[in-house]
Amino acid sequence: MTTAGFEQSSKGKPLWLLAELTYKCPLQCPYCSNPVEIAKYQDELTTEEWFRVMREAREMGATQLGFSGGEPLVRKDLEELIAEARRLGFYTNLITSGVGMDEDRIKAFKEAGLDHIQISFQASNEELNNYLAGTKSFNHKYEMARLVKKYEYPMVLNIVLHRKNIEQIDDIINMCNDLDADYVELASTQYYGWSRINIDQLLPTKEQLDNAWQVTQKYKEKYKDKMKLIYVIPDYYETRPKPCMNGWGSVFLTIVPDGTALPCHAAHQLPIEFPNVRDWTIEGLWNDSEGFNVFRGFDWMKEPCRSCPEKTKDFGGCRCQAYMLTGDARNADPVCDKSPYHAELHADVERINKLAKEQDPNKDEKPLMFRNMRNSKDI
Ligand code: FES
Repeated sequence: MTTAGFEQSSKGKPLWLLAELTYKCPLQCPYCSNPVEIAKYQDELTTEEWFRVMREAREMGATQLGFSGGEPLVRKDLEELIAEARRLGFYTNLITSGVGMDEDRIKAFKEAGLDHIQISFQASNEELNNYLAGTKSFNHKYEMARLVKKYEYPMVLNIVLHRKNIEQIDDIINMCNDLDADYVELASTQYYGWSRINIDQLLPTKEQLDNAWQVTQKYKEKYKDKMKLIYVIPDYYETRPKPCMNGWGSVFLTIVPDGTALPCHAAHQLPIEFPNVRDWTIEGLWNDSEGFNVFRGFDWMKEPCRSCPEKTKDFGGCRCQAYMLTGDARNADPVCDKSPYHAELHADVERINKLAKEQDPNKDEKPLMFRNMRNSKDI
């Protein structure tokens, strides 16, 4: 089917493979986008099974590979997986908290051919970082970030922004400068998984976001020859949806720890049966499984997306967000102001803004729900 010159029914190729190796993690971030039911994913793929996944994805045309989690450093075979990925010709990225890393491991990653390491921080000071991570980790992360630079990796830092840390934005950027960062992602929390549970405590106010944007602009100019700053606001403040995953089943392939294959890392929550690499080849699941075909093309769309001229740009937005906020993944993403659910989302954002402004900073608000096995079982 061709719409406005855009070949959307094409199945594309899984150019980007995200390997979520494990959901085990020494950290307990309350904004984690992992599934809330982490206990369900204990039966992890073996080293050999990951080798097969990588080989078949590469044969399909995949070139970029992200090792993520949970915390991928928990996997003792990470060095072996990296070496095999490089042998197959992938450009390899490690997405990590730095906890579980030491100099010997960084050396081993270098020898295995790892191309890229991204380290995340929770905040720019020890106290808040450790509180949000649910564990003492700030000083170790700092040391690891320095070592990553010493081993001549590009310094890529990721700081997830939300109401608990957004007012540190100056200090966060200065910390990144102190660490000689080349790229900094100041990515606002999006509200999936654990962060959705904690939204009342995490969503920043409009004023906080505007202020953070202005501060970031100032530093963008100041450090323009040194460090690239990328600032992303929460979808909930937008009026047009993002072209999530660049279109369903068109570029991104996520494999979660138990081998389930997803068109997006948050899709586990959708009422769809997704294929598992233990039963399917990568080519088979990409081309023929129901889970990968269900939102390809435009025929699945309801109004207002179906007749919207922007559908070829944004594909109706994020399917996971549509499902979470409306109960039907075929609806327009309510971030879009053409969606009949947009006013409801806007009212909820207003409610949280009001809550945040009335909050007495000296009093604890509702406690955060940290991401851990105990809480996972209680939800
Ligand atoms: Fe799943 Fe957007 S996060 S489609």
